[in-house]
Amino acid sequence: MSMEQRIDELNELRAEALKGGGEARVRAQHERGKLSARERIDLVLDEGSFVELDRFVTHRSTDFGLEEQRILGDGVVTGYGTVHGRLVYLFSQDFTVFGGSLSETHAEKIVKIMDMAVRNGAPVLGLNDSGGARIQEGVVSLGGYADIFLRNTLASGVVPQISVILGPCAGGAVYSPAITDFVFMVRGTSYMFVTGPNVVKTVTHEDIDMEGLGGADVHASKSGVAHFAHDSEAETLEAVRALLRFLPQNNTEGAPEGPGTPPPEAAVTGLLGVIPDNPNRPYDMRDLLGGIVDGGDLLEVHAQFAANLLVGFAHIGGHAVGIVANQPAVLAGVLDIDASVKGARFVRFCDAFNIPLVVFEDVPGFLPGVAQEHGGIIRHGAKLLFAFAEATVPKVTVITRKAYGGAYDVMNSKHIRGDLNFAWPSAEIAVMGPKGAVEVLFRREIAEAEDPEAATEARIEEYRKMFAHPYVAAARGYVDDVIDPRETRDRLISGLDMLRNKRDQNPPSKHGNIPL
Ligand code: HXC
Repeated sequence: MSMEQRIDELNELRAEALKGGGEARVRAQHERGKLSARERIDLVLDEGSFVELDRFVTHRSTDFGLEEQRILGDGVVTGYGTVHGRLVYLFSQDFTVFGGSLSETHAEKIVKIMDMAVRNGAPVLGLNDSGGARIQEGVVSLGGYADIFLRNTLASGVVPQISVILGPCAGGAVYSPAITDFVFMVRGTSYMFVTGPNVVKTVTHEDIDMEGLGGADVHASKSGVAHFAHDSEAETLEAVRALLRFLPQNNTEGAPEGPGTPPPEAAVTGLLGVIPDNPNRPYDMRDLLGGIVDGGDLLEVHAQFAANLLVGFAHIGGHAVGIVANQPAVLAGVLDIDASVKGARFVRFCDAFNIPLVVFEDVPGFLPGVAQEHGGIIRHGAKLLFAFAEATVPKVTVITRKAYGGAYDVMNSKHIRGDLNFAWPSAEIAVMGPKGAVEVLFRREIAEAEDPEAATEARIEEYRKMFAHPYVAAARGYVDDVIDPRETRDRLISGLDMLRNKRDQNPPSKHGNIPL
């Protein structure tokens, strides 16, 4: 055979591999509002950057007549490419081939690119659309999943791992995305659950559909399994690209810097008016951040989940940072179970990937209640404390208003190695708020007073003067400075510049034992 003939044969095979499960199945995929595995790759990667590997891989099964059905690629497209010019590895499951189900060889392809990603220090993107374990292959398929889970675990904290759920993801298959750093879902076409609606119905007699059990909104707002939910695949894949702007390639690198665009003028001049004169009134922490971070842009993570704590990525003077901020507009910004878990996970991601933490604090304390206590707020709140305390990246805190009780310690206080802690003049740093304190300290005096209300007011005023300000903490060096809100951005930029070469280490251990 001449070289030309061999090349013709190669091109035929390549064309064959591109077809996946065939035209009819691709059409069915489109009719459901879903894109094909390759269309998704084209959207998420820089144009023309995709390099495919293993396109000729086929399964090795012979049971159930499978030897008659070998499809090139075996239901997953794998390889590497770039996003914003930076290397990423990815796999994209092809639902048109055996429902995207995972066979021995399908798993081997995924494992191969994961190993390459770790060896070469670049993020892994997993585009998931799969009916789960390839039923015909039995335990071999389960072994393939476990091979992937192991690699997800070993790659954790080494390279960023992002999972995008674009169809079914059920049974044990959910645990690969669950181990990765970020999970994206699409409303209406993606779902995740350990057991589906039919099994749920049989076991607990609960009637629920797929979207209600494990759709994008459920996981983005209730369970916290998903960090992002979007309306379409195109929007989702664009959001993945946007997230990657803030992430380093691996744990030995820093995150890419931004151009340092100042925030919009209106947001800056509005800064002084954000905090209401009455300390019991809420405000939206996002208004405050909009006047401080570059371009006023914050990429919120877990925006719909535990909204009383806000976490996300931004640039400040070009430095990529992870923001953790109490949100007084929701539940007065208290810390509860979900907020603690959300915050702890984000802090640990930033610490693992050299992203400095900037904390904006306005927290009245932990949420009281039987549900919180019985749900384990002690254990969960401890996660956030542990995460901040163990983090060795640059850590800066700005106390905008309340810093009360244990929450003061938890929110990256100086005592747990905050590098630079600032307070606005509106800060109130104390064991508890004036009213609560007076009720405890002067209960008898108030009960015996002729005018209990006036006595309470007088004591509150006295307490307020003594404690409801930042100067007791500042006198001790617990905050490094009290600053004019308008100075915040410049002080943060100067601080982040100053901390650029920070070196800090925890004592050697196999690993800590975060209270899970
Ligand atoms: C082999 C599968 C498959 C699977 C789907 N297909 N799932 N083939 N193994 N797991 C095939 C179908 O036979 C069909 O082939 C094609 O994919 C499309 O499937 P449909 O059923 O027509 O699609 P749809 O109606 O959209 O339903 C999608 C689905 C359903 C909900 C995912 O296919 C389904 O319930 N599949 C089985 C799911 C399952 O039980 N998986 C194992 C779970 S246990 P044709 O040739 O007709 O196009 C698991 C454990 C993981 O995953 C272990 C980790 C530890």
